[in-house]
Amino acid sequence: MGYDRSMAAYAPLVIEHFENPRNAGEMADPDGEATTANPVCGDRMRVMLRVADGRVQEIRWQTRGCPPAIATSSFASEMVQGWTIEQVEALTREAIAEGIGGLPGDKVHCSVLAADALRSAVANYRAKAAGRPATDA
Ligand code: FES
Repeated sequence: MGYDRSMAAYAPLVIEHFENPRNAGEMADPDGEATTANPVCGDRMRVMLRVADGRVQEIRWQTRGCPPAIATSSFASEMVQGWTIEQVEALTREAIAEGIGGLPGDKVHCSVLAADALRSAVANYRAKAAGRPATDA
């Protein structure tokens, strides 16, 4: 975590999302939610989903992390809007990193946070929808 490099090292879309994050915040009574920690650095992301007809209708997130973690959280939250939950389950960190214009080599791991948190939130949604005890909140 931290501002350990010049922002000039990042792609324009990374800077744009970091400075103007989309869909950040809280959601009351989400259909699926999860909090995930990045195994590399310990930064954390919480994702909350509203799902309707099997698709992501609304998304909110809260991330405590570095600029690329904030930027990829914002970018991924726009990316999956309207996606089916199966599409979200197939989302990879590579797709997020490529979509946002690439990340510096030592920051590629930062995009894993959004991918993992989104997939975990869908797993939580599936568990709730199936009436099983939710495994993450
Ligand atoms: Fe932790 Fe980027 S350094 S997510």
